[in-house]
Amino acid sequence: MNVGLTTPILPAGEAAAAAAALCLTEGGLVAFPTETVYGLGADAANPAAIARLYQAKGRPAFNPLIAHVSDIEAGMRIARFDPRAIALAKAFWPGPLTLVLPKTNDCAVADLATAGLDTIAIRVPAHRVARAILRAFGGPVVAPSANLSGHVSPTTAAHVQSDLAGRIDLIIDGGPVTVGVESTIVGCFDAPVLLRPGGVPRGEIERVLGRKLLQPPEDADADGVQPLAPGMLASHYAPRTPLRLNAGQVAAGEALLAFGPASVPGVDAATIVMNLSAQGDLNEAAANLFGYLRALDTRGARAIAVMPVPHQGLGEAINDRLRRAAVGRQ
Ligand code: TXA
Ligand code: MG
Repeated sequence: MNVGLTTPILPAGEAAAAAAALCLTEGGLVAFPTETVYGLGADAANPAAIARLYQAKGRPAFNPLIAHVSDIEAGMRIARFDPRAIALAKAFWPGPLTLVLPKTNDCAVADLATAGLDTIAIRVPAHRVARAILRAFGGPVVAPSANLSGHVSPTTAAHVQSDLAGRIDLIIDGGPVTVGVESTIVGCFDAPVLLRPGGVPRGEIERVLGRKLLQPPEDADADGVQPLAPGMLASHYAPRTPLRLNAGQVAAGEALLAFGPASVPGVDAATIVMNLSAQGDLNEAAANLFGYLRALDTRGARAIAVMPVPHQGLGEAINDRLRRAAVGRQ
């Protein structure tokens, strides 16, 4: 393994997929693009590699990981799919949906990756680079977002390098991601639960299920209860600069994260303005969200004022990440 002060970056391609697969086989940690955000992959069946992964991210080991597989058949070797899960997989895989399902009895994924739960989170990514790596490796790959625990997720290889250089073995650069927020997580329990809003809008999932998704208990982590999706810890996606949400005006010394064509009073006093989508397109806004938060966070602003973002479509996931980014830093 090759952990130095920097981590080599390979441009995506056949050679990079082979190098990534070899590195995974040897127990290494490889960052690669998915359509949602960059992931940090490890062999899902190798507990030592998974232990290194938690350490590299500084992530608590009670927060379980998503197993990435190349297709639904590979998923069925590690989890039990009921008819609803099959319907969701058929509708949205490959793509930005993660299903939490009961593990099979002979599930090859290490217990450390699932934090000892009897359920497992699975997804089939759509990104061609992620798919090439999964094919070349041939088994499930656990991959959290490739950022230090508590930082916003990386949407470029440079973001990965700035968080994890020297802590991981290899970075595959496939350019900026297209979706920009993490996958939607649905718990396929007695009643299906929306564990995390994400890249597939809630409404599309509800249409396939023919019913509403339940909400997880609000703030389940507030009094030490293990949350259903532990990554929902209140301040999971936080920049260092405080965020001020639903801003109707900008104060002197603040940075502005804008949305849409309208302006707000005080905009001339802003230290910097970045617009998630001047046209008000929520997909474009999701793709820009984490990169813009990282950029604004380096400007020494006293706060980042964030204009309101509508709650439809990907707006639910955007507002979820903004709310988490604002918690605990105010
Ligand atoms: O888009 C994504 O999902 C990205 C890319 C890399 O695939 N991955 C990602 O992983 O966001 P991570 O580790 O940052 O978030 C995974 C979430 C965490 O909130 C974790 O608690 C939850 O999935 N999770 C994993 N296994 C679970 C389980 N068995 N039950 C409930 N939640 C689970
Ligand atoms: Mg994450």
